[in-house]
Amino acid sequence: MRNYDLKEDIREYWSRRSATFDLAFGHRIPPGPELDAWAAAVREAIGPAPQKVLELACGTGEVTNVLLSLGHEVTALDFSEAMLGVARAKHDGNTRARFILADAERTMEPDQTYDAVICRHLVWTLTEPEQAFADWFRVLKPGGKLLVFDGDWTKPTPIGRIASLAVRVIERFIGHDPYYDGAMSERHANIMTRLPFSGGLTPEGLKPLVAAAGFAEVRFPSHRPIAVAQRRNADLRNRLRTRFYRRFVLTASRPEDGATAGPHLNTLPQPEGISS
Ligand SMILES: C[S@@+](CC[C@H](N)C(=O)[O-])C[C@H]1O[C@@H](n2cnc3c(N)ncnc32)[C@H](O)[C@@H]1O
Repeated sequence: MRNYDLKEDIREYWSRRSATFDLAFGHRIPPGPELDAWAAAVREAIGPAPQKVLELACGTGEVTNVLLSLGHEVTALDFSEAMLGVARAKHDGNTRARFILADAERTMEPDQTYDAVICRHLVWTLTEPEQAFADWFRVLKPGGKLLVFDGDWTKPTPIGRIASLAVRVIERFIGHDPYYDGAMSERHANIMTRLPFSGGLTPEGLKPLVAAAGFAEVRFPSHRPIAVAQRRNADLRNRLRTRFYRRFVLTASRPEDGATAGPHLNTLPQPEGISS
């Protein structure tokens, strides 16, 4: 018996990666086309600034930077002190940013406080997704927006398999990239097997869970503009990496008071353009 649970393992894993996280392709959001693409996706999903935004699992503060660049007032949380330290240093002195050490699944933030709740690459690693979505619904004001950027990191797409083979060939010549996601590392793989989304996180699987928490208007805008922007300044290996996994964007809203919440409001078309 060990007094050490899955969440502790997850926290320790990310804490260990905090110092080099930004060096792994796909994490840092460089100014230029990529920052513009992320900013456009946020603007499209939540509307114009200024808004009160809760950013969950902010990591090193890269999405925080997108939100601040748009003019929002951001509360950014993470449960890793080490990650939060990097984010705090990056945005030191910015009076529109507040950083807190907290669990994204139980934020402890007051009810109906935020205009938008946003996260990138968190949902796949939730240990209690239903609890988390209920909490995010609770902290949103009526009419508030949920915006999720995520992907199925458990298995490459058919094109991703070919791309990953090509990367392996390239790495025979130029060597292994020590910073790229530890997707294949033993520790990461072990955590993966114990997660609720161990079988993969898909838009189809996520939609009913989000709707069950009371969210309406669950939609899947295209992730493609972000992937295209990432490819613009990337070398061949990183361009191939943008093809590995099925990534997607989810948007949803908390119904206005008086509107009936629940899955039946969720009368939207099938997800389209969800992979990149
Ligand atoms: C893949 S990183 C993503 C970081 C950031 N969102 C980004 O996209 O650059 C995952 C982050 O989620 C955080 N995290 C995972 N589970 C969490 C939880 N339950 N509460 C708060 N943070 C969590 C980790 O500490 C880590 O910083």
